[in-house]
Amino acid sequence: MTVDVEREKALAAQAAAELVEDGMAVGLGTGSTAAYFVTALAARALDVRCVATSLATERQAREAGLRVEPFDGDGALARLDIAVDGADQVASHGWVVKGNGGAHTREKIVAAAAARFVVIASSDKVVGAISPPVPLEVLAYGLTATLARLAHARVRDGASLSPDGGVIVDWTGPVDDPAALAASLAAEPGVVEHGLFPPELVTDVLVGRGETVERR
Ligand code: A5P
Repeated sequence: MTVDVEREKALAAQAAAELVEDGMAVGLGTGSTAAYFVTALAARALDVRCVATSLATERQAREAGLRVEPFDGDGALARLDIAVDGADQVASHGWVVKGNGGAHTREKIVAAAAARFVVIASSDKVVGAISPPVPLEVLAYGLTATLARLAHARVRDGASLSPDGGVIVDWTGPVDDPAALAASLAAEPGVVEHGLFPPELVTDVLVGRGETVERR
């Protein structure tokens, strides 16, 4: 059976948009699945305040008529009611990998600020166990030294810097124990953020499968 991945993304995004209520503060993720959510949310014509995790999402959301506010500086929102974002891998034990678009640092900050963080994905993103690469954002200062310490990591070919000036790197070593790897990457000087999102951060996972949406 051929899987219509775009249809599955759209269905998951639609289900997530239905979780949003009038008056909510909403975090908007980045990537092709998050883009379906922006479209579905705008179609609901609710009175919501949004923050975006990338310039591309911000542009799309504004063009769709959503109110996008800065997430830095005086008066920025401190808490969000909900954030919705795509994923690269969704593992059965609850860990999620993000950052194929290099936006995982902002995405994790937005997810952590949200009372409810909803991951939306097509069925091809569901995995039994996480495998490399795991995206990293690394400070440009001391990059060579940081990469040497990490050992299993390489700068991603052709990737732009993050909007915050970080270098996008892929961890290519083993991911046998996501919690242990997340802790060791987080403890590494120069690593701004890694793309491993723990189960505690993820409230809902909505997976489009065929013509249905699985809730995990
Ligand atoms: C952006 O950095 C990523 O975390 C994306 O959310 C993730 O790569 C999923 O992207 P797609 O929805 O385009 O597959």
